[in-house]
Amino acid sequence: MEQEMESKHTSDGAEFYQLCDYVHREADCIINRRKKELLTGNPLKKKHLDFLDILLMAKDENGIGLTTKEIRAEVDTFMLAGHDTTGAAISWTMYALAKYPEYQEKVRNEVDAILEDTGGALEWEDLSKLQLLTLFMKETMRLYAPVPFISRCLDDDVVIDGKKVLAGVNVRLCIWAMHRHPDIWGEDVEEFKPERFHPDKMKDFDSFGYIPFSAGPRNCIGQNFALAEEKVLLARLLHKYELSLPDDTPEIIPSVRLVLKVEGDDIKLRLRIRK
Ligand code: HEM
Repeated sequence: MEQEMESKHTSDGAEFYQLCDYVHREADCIINRRKKELLTGNPLKKKHLDFLDILLMAKDENGIGLTTKEIRAEVDTFMLAGHDTTGAAISWTMYALAKYPEYQEKVRNEVDAILEDTGGALEWEDLSKLQLLTLFMKETMRLYAPVPFISRCLDDDVVIDGKKVLAGVNVRLCIWAMHRHPDIWGEDVEEFKPERFHPDKMKDFDSFGYIPFSAGPRNCIGQNFALAEEKVLLARLLHKYELSLPDDTPEIIPSVRLVLKVEGDDIKLRLRIRK
């Protein structure tokens, strides 16, 4: 990421490097603290080893572990790949719930039926029962793909629509455009319809036509975790609050950046505690 910055001598560049230093210092602090903990305790006694424990303990065939800088690079990837993306997915889903109150009601009924039995708590097994919520989240990620494009550098020449693209070229795959293409989704492509993801309707669907988590060997490794995290948060939110858009809400125009944002101001939602 740092290599993409052109200069340390512009004010934007200087601020960028200052912020990078801040993030790196924080990450180094955590890594060093955990290193110490590993040296003084017995990590194998821990019930679950987390990602950082595994990186800290990993050794190659010559018994050499990763350097702090290498570990930090992995931690940075997870923070960027796992945090902003999930935040965007949750924000856009909350927006869609507020925008489509009739679906909000249906999803809430499903959530209530599960949470009323459990006193508001969710167990792992409950997540697969949240089927309407899952369809709703999928449709939101279709129209508001949290990661709107991905890039690849071609290893080999590729022919696309009769045109040869040479090895070494960087190509950009626009998930945003694919998710809104009538050839894939039909003429009602712009309509918000969670039911299009019903398993019966998806039987013959080309799985490469819907790729919010990318596809192939470098797809998202946090996909299941992200979906579980989102479901827990959204289910509990819906159980407790009604979501709506304030009357003076301006037109919400998505902004295609590394992660899907909104043009101009943030989206403002109204949350009302349910009686
Ligand atoms: C809704 C949430 C998420 C979305 C939409 C998302 C989307 C994506 C996409 C599209 C890619 C592929 C990027 C590419 O092909 O260039 C990717 C990769 C990745 N994601 Fe996620 N992601 C999400 C959540 C997470 C979470 C929670 C984690 C970690 C806990 C995570 C970790 C990663 C990592 C490490 C990669 C790189 C995999 C590799 O290059 O082999 N993601 N993600």
